[in-house]
Amino acid sequence: MAIKTIIEPFKIKMVEPITMSTEEERHGFLKKAYYNTFLLDSDQVIIDFLTDSGTSAMSANQWAGLINGDESYAGSRSWKRMEKVVKELTGMEFVLPTHQGRAAERIIYSHLGGKGKYFISNTHFDTTRANIEFSGAKAIDIPIEEGKHPNEYHPFKGNIDTKLLEEKIIEFGPENIGAVILTITNNSGGGQPVSMQNAREVGEICHKHGVLYLQDMCRIAENAYFVNHREAGYENIAYKDIAKEMMSFADGAVMSAKKDALVNMGGFLSLKDEELANACKNLLIITEGFTTYGGLSGRDMEAISIGLEEVFEPDYLKYRIRSTEYLGNKLSEMGIPLMLPIGGHAVYVDAREFYSNIPIDQYPGQSLVCDLYTIGGIRAVEIGSVMFGSYDKNGKLIPATMDLVRLAIPRRVYTQSHIEYVIEVFEEIIKRKDQAKGIKIIYEPDFLRHFTAKFEPIN
Ligand code: F0G
Repeated sequence: MAIKTIIEPFKIKMVEPITMSTEEERHGFLKKAYYNTFLLDSDQVIIDFLTDSGTSAMSANQWAGLINGDESYAGSRSWKRMEKVVKELTGMEFVLPTHQGRAAERIIYSHLGGKGKYFISNTHFDTTRANIEFSGAKAIDIPIEEGKHPNEYHPFKGNIDTKLLEEKIIEFGPENIGAVILTITNNSGGGQPVSMQNAREVGEICHKHGVLYLQDMCRIAENAYFVNHREAGYENIAYKDIAKEMMSFADGAVMSAKKDALVNMGGFLSLKDEELANACKNLLIITEGFTTYGGLSGRDMEAISIGLEEVFEPDYLKYRIRSTEYLGNKLSEMGIPLMLPIGGHAVYVDAREFYSNIPIDQYPGQSLVCDLYTIGGIRAVEIGSVMFGSYDKNGKLIPATMDLVRLAIPRRVYTQSHIEYVIEVFEEIIKRKDQAKGIKIIYEPDFLRHFTAKFEPIN
C-alpha cells in the first residue's frame, strides 16, 4: 500500500492548552521582554520552537516509570538501571549522572581546561564554549567547508575538517589540547549529522597524537538515522547499533538527556578512563550530588532509562526526522533560504540571506525571531551574531559565520496542523519582509549574552 503520509506514531492521552493571543498583544509582550524571546512568558507563546531541549512529551511508559523511581541517596535501583542502559549504549565503563548537559560539561571542561589549553570541535555548542572559555581555555571550531555554506549540499555537513584537525593538534602541541569534541549532531552548525567515517577518523587522529576524544552525544539517535539513510554500508544496521559503533571510537561522552533521552531534565558524563572518572567524580560530589544520583531524582533516572530505549524505535525516528524535513521542505519551496539539507531536530533559516536588507551588525536573525513572534506567536532562537558575535578592539561587531534562526521542534509535542500553521505564518512573513527592521543591543552580559541581552528595534 503506497500511503505517503507519515502519521505521528502515538495517540494523545493528556493535553496542555495553548494560550492564544493577538498580534497587537504580542507587540506589547515583546516590548516588555526587550525583544528577547528568552524573556517572554511561555503562555505568551503559541508555538514554542525555542528549543527541543527538555521540551519532549514523555510516553505513558516513562510516566509510569516515575512511580517506580527509587529515591535512595546512595545505590538506588533507578541509578543502577540508568547506569546499565548508558553503559550498554556508550560502551564506557564510568557513568556520572548530572542534572543536565552543561553540568557534565562544567565538570569535565573545568578539569581539562585552564589557561593555555585548546579545545577543537566541529562546532562547540554555546554552553560548551562558555564552559571552556570560563576555564581560561580556547575553543576552536573547524567544521568542514561545506558546513559553513547553508546552500551547499553535503550529506554530513556536521563533519569536522580532519585535515585541519591534525594540523591544529600539531600547531598547538598535543599536550596543550584539552580535548577534541565532536558534537553529534552539530547543533550550532544547523543540526547537521556527522558521518561514521568522520567520527572514526577523528578517533584515529586523536589516538595517534595521544589527545582525548569526546563526543557530545545529545542527539545521537537522530544522527544514527542519517547515517543509516545516507552512509553506504549502514542501511541495514539498527539505529542503536549505529550509535554504539560511533561512540566506540571516543574516550568519553557528554549527554544532555533533555534531547534524545526524551526527558525534561537530566544528563550524564561517560568515560573510559578510571583516573579521569575519579577526578570528575570528586567535582560531581561537590556541586551536583553523590555519584549515584548526580543532580537527579530517582524518577528522573527511570525516565531517562526508558527514553534512551524509546528514542531508537524506528517508527519514532522516522516520524521525527521526516516531520522536521516536511516543515523544511515546505519553507524551502516557498523560497525561504534554509540550511540545507534539513537537519534532525530543527529547521534553520538563513536570516542573513532572507533579511538581506538588514545589515549584519543590525542582527537580521534577531529581527526575524521578533517578526515570527509578533506575526505568529512562534518563539524561535537566533543562532548567529547575537549568540556567537564578539567585538574587535574598536567595538565593531565580529559577526558569527552565519546568521541563522532555529526553529527547534520539541519531540512528540506538536501535530501536523501546528506545523501547517507555522507554514502559513511564514507566508505572511514573506509578504511583510520589506518592512523588516534592524535591531540593536542595549544591554549584554559577559557570557552567553543571548539569554539575557536586551534589544531595541532601529527605526
Ligand atoms: N550540547 C549540545 C549540542 C546542546 O545542544 C546542548 C543544549 C548542550 C550541550 C547543553 O545541554 O541544556 O542540558 O545543559 N542545547 C539546548 C538547545 C539548550 O536549545 O539547543 P543542557
